Amino acid sequence: MAKKPWGGRFEGETEKQVEQFSQSLDFDRRLYKQDIAGSQAHARMLARQGIITEAEADRIVRALEEIRREIEAGEFIYAPAMEDIHMAIEARLISKIGDAGRKLHTARSRNDQVALDVRLYLAEAVETLVARLTELRRAGARLARKHLGVIMPGYTHLQRAQPVLFAHHLLAYDEMWRRDIMRLQESLARIKVSPLGAAALAGTTFPIDPKFTAEQLDFPEIFRNSLDAVSDRDFAVEFLAHAALIMAHLSRLSEELIIWSSSEFGFVVIPDGYATGSSIMPQKRNPDVPELIRGKCGRVAGSLMSLLMTLKGLPLTYNRDLQEDKEPLFDAADTVTASVELMAGLLEALEVRPEKMAATLKGGFLTATDMADYLVTKGVPFRTAHEQVGAAVRYAEGQGKELGELSLEEVQKFAPTAAPDLFEWLTIEASVARRKSPGGTAPERVVEALARVEKELEISG
Ligand code: ARG
Repeated sequence: MAKKPWGGRFEGETEKQVEQFSQSLDFDRRLYKQDIAGSQAHARMLARQGIITEAEADRIVRALEEIRREIEAGEFIYAPAMEDIHMAIEARLISKIGDAGRKLHTARSRNDQVALDVRLYLAEAVETLVARLTELRRAGARLARKHLGVIMPGYTHLQRAQPVLFAHHLLAYDEMWRRDIMRLQESLARIKVSPLGAAALAGTTFPIDPKFTAEQLDFPEIFRNSLDAVSDRDFAVEFLAHAALIMAHLSRLSEELIIWSSSEFGFVVIPDGYATGSSIMPQKRNPDVPELIRGKCGRVAGSLMSLLMTLKGLPLTYNRDLQEDKEPLFDAADTVTASVELMAGLLEALEVRPEKMAATLKGGFLTATDMADYLVTKGVPFRTAHEQVGAAVRYAEGQGKELGELSLEEVQKFAPTAAPDLFEWLTIEASVARRKSPGGTAPERVVEALARVEKELEISG
């Protein structure tokens, strides 16, 4: 039976079931790189402060390097008795270099150690996610550029409302992704704060230099309060909140892609690589990827709730409950990163059917607002114009005609100020072209918006 690194005051052995219940090695082993980097920085700091010798620090750093290679080569033995990755690595270090290894944990606790590891992990996860989101923005921008002139119905209440450019619709998602990236980048200021030096909870009696430790790890800040340093997981909650919101954005787009790819809409075709068939219905082509992204949104939101519940009511400072931070965090980071990547791939390959979109622009009185706006230009108050157009729509509907198909005389029965130039206002193209207000769907506005996005993303249009 391997002796526990904390085994000094214990006589009896840990129950097997307790060992299994409490171990985190199964999932925190993926923190090995962070754990080793943190320990190396800590050892260097200890030597610099004269707490251990430079020779000891060198041996520690080198042995940890070897352990890293062992882990990466699959040669490392993970003994469940070791509880977690921190103890597993430390035990291996001691077995390699003896007493020098036994000095590594001076002025440190697993409490500040694990907090550092999670922060290092998250800093990297955030950078990766930002890179994936940037790729997603690029994919969206390229799709918008490819179909720049395409008009589709814009919806409110999922009822056809007013015509918009398909590119304009896509660029709405770009705004969400841009904010997602901003949030992630801003959160790095709170993630890259080194807690190392808080020790168990109260600080340490040794003359440490936490700033030096942090600098080696490329963390610009260090903790300000040792009690907070070991018990704070706010940065992880923040990440989960950001991840959940990103998933919500992806889920909204997924829902649209699912609807659009139905035969009822037919606006898009989900490319072969992103669709699957049915085992019984040969004709089926199912949008599984967007469905799964939509489904995984719940899972990531659940991870956010999970960590919030873990933190709720926890007394200061470290409590073992905090070990429960890792699985939701890792799962959410993996899920959101994969979902963003898949959505980018899907958009790159998406087949768009402008003719299907065009067909739905007919018959829905999508330019009724334009007719009201036109009447306003003739001096009619907007509310009155709205009523007049409403009556004209009801009449046209009864005749099985579009507004633009009515004669001027017919129109004038409802809107006496209408003149022949009305009809220039009633085409779909004119409706879109006239919406030149800032951030509107007029082609000139969308071209500007797309150019701005392409510039931000450093892609050429
Ligand atoms: N595996 C633990 C965790 O993930 C590491 C910290 C353990 N600290 C302790 N005092 N038992 O939280």
